[in-house]
Amino acid sequence: MAEKVRARGPGRVNLIGEHTDYNAGLALPFAIDRGVTVTAEPLAGDRIEARALDLGESDEFALAGPERATGWRAFVRGAVAELQAAGHELRPVRLTIESDLEQGAGLSSSAALETALCLALLGEEPADRVELAKLCSRVENDWVGAETGLLDQLAALFSDPGHAVRIDFASLEIEPVPLELAGWTLVTLDSGATHTHAGSGYNERRRECREACAALGVASLREATEIDDLPEPLRARARHVLTENARVDATIAALRAGDLDEVGRLLDASHASLRDDYAASVPEVEQTVERLKEAGAAGARMVGGGFGGAVLALLPPGVAVPDGALGVVPGPPAGLL
Ligand code: GLA
Repeated sequence: MAEKVRARGPGRVNLIGEHTDYNAGLALPFAIDRGVTVTAEPLAGDRIEARALDLGESDEFALAGPERATGWRAFVRGAVAELQAAGHELRPVRLTIESDLEQGAGLSSSAALETALCLALLGEEPADRVELAKLCSRVENDWVGAETGLLDQLAALFSDPGHAVRIDFASLEIEPVPLELAGWTLVTLDSGATHTHAGSGYNERRRECREACAALGVASLREATEIDDLPEPLRARARHVLTENARVDATIAALRAGDLDEVGRLLDASHASLRDDYAASVPEVEQTVERLKEAGAAGARMVGGGFGGAVLALLPPGVAVPDGALGVVPGPPAGLL
């Protein structure tokens, strides 16, 4: 490894396609230009040291066989363990973590951290970015205890400035879609209600989707066509997933046609479906959506896992960015600096 390596992992916004990734469905995310930077400096000995600068906290553990921990330490230890399990020979390093991305705001500070950590620990471009996304997801699933899908990691690793990416989670095909907004702007606004996937209704929704698949006799909800016989709330959960997949392709068609009013309507429809069918909203998120609509948004919806976090809104030309909102554009993917 070179003397000192720096890597950056971006946060992401999902334009549309929520709770579809673990249902072999479709999504249309992009990485933003905020994220997490990890610096790795070689150390003597056989240990890893880590410092989370923003938190003023540190950690230290044996390179061979890290033990379990909680919070941000679980990400670091998990990244080290999973990279080694995948056959990478790691060196003892001191890791310094810095972030300009809000945590728990639904912008996936988790994937930003995982991708930056893994790239800094590897110290070189990975042979296969899809494999790295899966590895990062194992860190989150097995070390942090959140059963999240691959949306955030693939968005962070495959973003393309000026584009959103259409991800098909059945085939893992990734296709850039130009995001030409012609004077319209996308903004996110934190609802103030923080969420952690490990502790929210997220894992429960995943279980409900599995139950719906079992009842329908399909491997994933992507294969489901007829859901009327499902008992509630499974029918509502499945309906969200099926209609959300359709909204992803409808959004791509509207973007290609330059019909941003229609994109706004689709964002609203996605939010209504997440709130009513998926029951993933909370009062703070509803108030934030209302505030953005009153400010003139053409469409607004919760982003990410829900149960708190940020709201994404599409503002027509001439509508001022509301106080506290952050303009978001597709930035570069995770990489070594
Ligand atoms: C979180 C998870 C993703 C995805 C979204 C919902 O961001 O990390 O895998 O499931 O929620 O679309």
